[in-house]
Amino acid sequence: MINIAILGYGTIGSGVAEVLNTNKDSIAARAGQEVNVKHVLDLREFLGDPIQDKIVHDINVILDDPEIDVVVETMGGTTPAYEYVKSALLKGKSVATSNKNLVAAHGAELIEIAKKNNINFLFEASVGGGIPIIRPLNSSLTADEIEEITGILNGTTNYILSKMTKDGSEFEDVLKEAQEKGYAERDPKADVEGLDAGRKIAILTSLVCGQQVDFEEIYIEGITKITAKDIKYAKALSRAIKLFATSKKHGDSFYVMVAPVMISPEHPLYSVNDVFNGIFVHGNVLGDAMFYGSGAGKLPTASAVVADVVDIIKHLHKNIFIDWSSTKKELIDISNTSK
Ligand code: HSE
Repeated sequence: MINIAILGYGTIGSGVAEVLNTNKDSIAARAGQEVNVKHVLDLREFLGDPIQDKIVHDINVILDDPEIDVVVETMGGTTPAYEYVKSALLKGKSVATSNKNLVAAHGAELIEIAKKNNINFLFEASVGGGIPIIRPLNSSLTADEIEEITGILNGTTNYILSKMTKDGSEFEDVLKEAQEKGYAERDPKADVEGLDAGRKIAILTSLVCGQQVDFEEIYIEGITKITAKDIKYAKALSRAIKLFATSKKHGDSFYVMVAPVMISPEHPLYSVNDVFNGIFVHGNVLGDAMFYGSGAGKLPTASAVVADVVDIIKHLHKNIFIDWSSTKKELIDISNTSK
């Protein structure tokens, strides 16, 4: 049996416990041993059964517990997640996280620490919710030069645009629904202003070029200015408005941007609606590939986190190489051409 700790018992953290419980036997078979949640770090005093007797409020209980080999981080944000994750890795504990803010800002450093300690820092759930995309880019597609990634990477904005298209409703009304369904970030500005998609395309581009892509350097435009009238015009032209996150290789460099675009029914991402995400990848020898599925929400995201936990257990004390150095990748400046 292997003991794990979960940091943050919100939507995703509780989803991780639920997935581990629902698929207990098959997960044990695949990991080669039973997975036991020993500690749950949370600010709250009461979380109810079966977690109640596992609650801890001090990270040091987890960091100093020699029985904990794997830490799941589902707190979100970078403070205190960065400090906690870094400390866990330095103590020789592998980490699986769903936290794109953490990965976009500190991924290179945390990968490097994991490498040095022969452990793992895995983050499949940080992009595309339950859709496998990090692992494919880090293994199945490594024979290729990836020349383009274009994704609908934010479930909340895709839900809003789809609903506005279907019902003719206004932006503000649909945002409330997305929040109620638990898709949106704590601060939904990160979704609707395109920052969440920006962090995700920064992560994917870093993996593809093997260097740090700073999300602050990406041209980012959200969907706050899209009105019911815009949607009506797009429909009249048989087009759909989608929030695209795009990364394209030009020579040795990349241009990366997030912006709403109007697309025709022939586009492979045209039918990606509601909370679903879709990611189109073009490799120089592969050609085109599409990834599609649940891009947000409790269980799909938790499914990706638990898959990382299983991979970590299968590779205990053996680092899975991830090519992402802290050397900064300069991007092509498109801020003047896309306005
Ligand atoms: N707020 C994010 C989204 C959650 O809507 O896609 C998943 O990263």
